[in-house]
Amino acid sequence: MSKHEIAVIPGDGIGNEVVPAALDVLNTVAEVHGGITFEFTNFPWNCDYYLKHGQMMPEDGLNTLQSFEAIFLGAVGDPAKVADHISLWGLLIKIRREFEQVINIRPAKFINGIVSPLTNPNDFDLIVVRENSEGEYSEVGGRIHKGEDQIAIQNAIFTRKGTERAIRYAFELAAKRRGHVTSATKSNGIFHSMPFWDEVFTETSRDYPETRTSSYHIDALAAFFVTKPHIFDVIVASNLFGDILTDIGAAIMGSIGIAPAANINLNGKYPSMFEPVHGSAPDICGRGIANPTGQIWTAKMMLDHLGQQELGQKVLTAMEETILSGIKTPDIGGNASTKEMTEDICRRLKK
Ligand code: NAD
Ligand code: IPM
Ligand code: MN
Repeated sequence: MSKHEIAVIPGDGIGNEVVPAALDVLNTVAEVHGGITFEFTNFPWNCDYYLKHGQMMPEDGLNTLQSFEAIFLGAVGDPAKVADHISLWGLLIKIRREFEQVINIRPAKFINGIVSPLTNPNDFDLIVVRENSEGEYSEVGGRIHKGEDQIAIQNAIFTRKGTERAIRYAFELAAKRRGHVTSATKSNGIFHSMPFWDEVFTETSRDYPETRTSSYHIDALAAFFVTKPHIFDVIVASNLFGDILTDIGAAIMGSIGIAPAANINLNGKYPSMFEPVHGSAPDICGRGIANPTGQIWTAKMMLDHLGQQELGQKVLTAMEETILSGIKTPDIGGNASTKEMTEDICRRLKK
């Protein structure tokens, strides 16, 4: 019997609807398998917690999380109560940074049974490797002066280590897939960091002579995600470019409610964190109609990470069957609730 101890942070908004759904799926997987169990420990850290305590998590929160095998998170953000940059930097981004979750992997593929906004989605199957620790997301900078003299300076940080790490991860991943890496650049308009990114990409690619490489400026690349996503295998992108690309990846699948993600710690010093691409969706929160499959597919990525690939595949298959059978939440054209969709996935797992 193997036991997996998982820290659970539902967070804000629909995080509190889709995380319980995905935990039901994980518990069903354990029940059916018989050889594994999960011990979930819930942490109620979110914007309400901030309003009560003045911080998004307790002082020793990271210490507490460190002993878990993985972290399973819903979404963070309730902009009506707490400014986003405060809530996100106080919890989600803090965990990503402090736990050195330097890579964010975000797959997107054609899902049978969901109407893609693309007329010819052509069986695309891609994965974005997003640099997750630096780049355009930085606290380096500041604001000075008032009135019409106001200045805001925001520095982007690109280290050799961080850049090469993400690019190398993409090449290693491509070697296990279709052997093609695309670099997202913008070296025509961004004067320092992106020519540097291109150089590191070219140098690193020399270690992988069998891998096909492409490089596109992010604007053209974003358009290709819409017009011909089937040309891509692995795409490596900076933090912000990867963030934007993966919402497009979600959109061409048919909904942001489906897209999964994993924040990976590579050095083994801290747990990795599993959290879907979407946010807390304040506009639909509390209505029981949030699509649970982004969180459930994210649970599949966590199962893979825990060495339970076979179970992960079962979850994905059950999820795809449920979608194909027409039991779908409104965002993907159905009228099922979060609960109905989740129950059907669990029922299929038990078969
Ligand atoms: P969002 O992803 O929450 O919502 C965008 C749109 O997609 C909304 O119309 C929403 O209803 C819909 N949507 C999202 N998830 C869905 C689901 N599972 N099922 C059905 N529809 C879904 O993005 P936003 O509106 O820009 O952000 C809302 C809040 O979430 C903000 O505070 C933002 O900072 C935060 N956010 C957090 C994360 C995270 O924690 N990982 C990610 C993105 C945004
Ligand atoms: C995501 C989100 C976060 C990000 C926000 C909420 C800070 O959009 O996980 O994609 O930009 O990383
Ligand atoms: Mn995002």
